[in-house]
Amino acid sequence: MTAYLPEYAEKLIRGRRAVRSFRPDPVPDETVRAIFSLAGAAPSNSNTQPWRAEVVSGAARDRLSDALLAAHKHQRLSVDFPYQDALYSDVHQLRRKGFGEAMYGALGIGRDDREAREAYDAESLRFYGAPHVALVLAPSNADARMTADIGMYGQTLLLAMTAYGVASCPQGLLGFYGDTIRESLGIRDGKVLFGVSFGYAVESAPVNQLKLTRAELEETTRFHE
Ligand SMILES: Cc1cc2nc3c(=O)[nH]c(=O)nc-3n(C[C@H](O)[C@H](O)[C@H](O)COP(=O)(O)O)c2cc1C
Repeated sequence: MTAYLPEYAEKLIRGRRAVRSFRPDPVPDETVRAIFSLAGAAPSNSNTQPWRAEVVSGAARDRLSDALLAAHKHQRLSVDFPYQDALYSDVHQLRRKGFGEAMYGALGIGRDDREAREAYDAESLRFYGAPHVALVLAPSNADARMTADIGMYGQTLLLAMTAYGVASCPQGLLGFYGDTIRESLGIRDGKVLFGVSFGYAVESAPVNQLKLTRAELEETTRFHE
């Protein structure tokens, strides 16, 4: 078994993709529980495990989506972790531009078609049709150290889903609607760092054919001896 691990790891890690078109059929309960149990094996500073996941399905999922769409319509934003464009360096901006061009290109949405882009943003509040969404929360007073732990949990969660044949899309945008999410789910504390829509992919959807490349190893990694 150990001998095959690198091969499996290559497949698992490189095989995961952000999926943005889902079939409506739900993931069986026992699979969902196995996935979230596996995600909890993520490492954290001093094993503090500062994450919390709120897994939303069925009628609660529909109510949450309706509440998010209403908040979007009335521009009722409550951003738990502010987005600061200026923090991104030129190379980061360039990569983001490449991503936007690839995604909107796959959807056939033009550069200046703001209306279509906004309609697509609304689609993300329908969780791209996914039957489930998990909101991943940080403690209300979270600092960078805690959010790093929660990032570890996030990737572990995505890989656990991939291993179980479940497609996913991490969604930072959901954190722009913290109050709506807390209200809809009856959550008293905690800040929404990101959400993860999940279910089974519509394999043939053009947006699901996207395969984003990554920077060359030397661009991000230096080896010292
Ligand atoms: C923390 C985080 C937040 C993200 N937020 C969004 C989002 O709001 N909407 C979206 O469509 N994709 C979102 N993504 C997905 C990224 O766009 C995607 O991971 C990236 O472009 C690389 O593509 P890949 O995951 O298919 O390899 C997010 C990813 C991460 C890790």
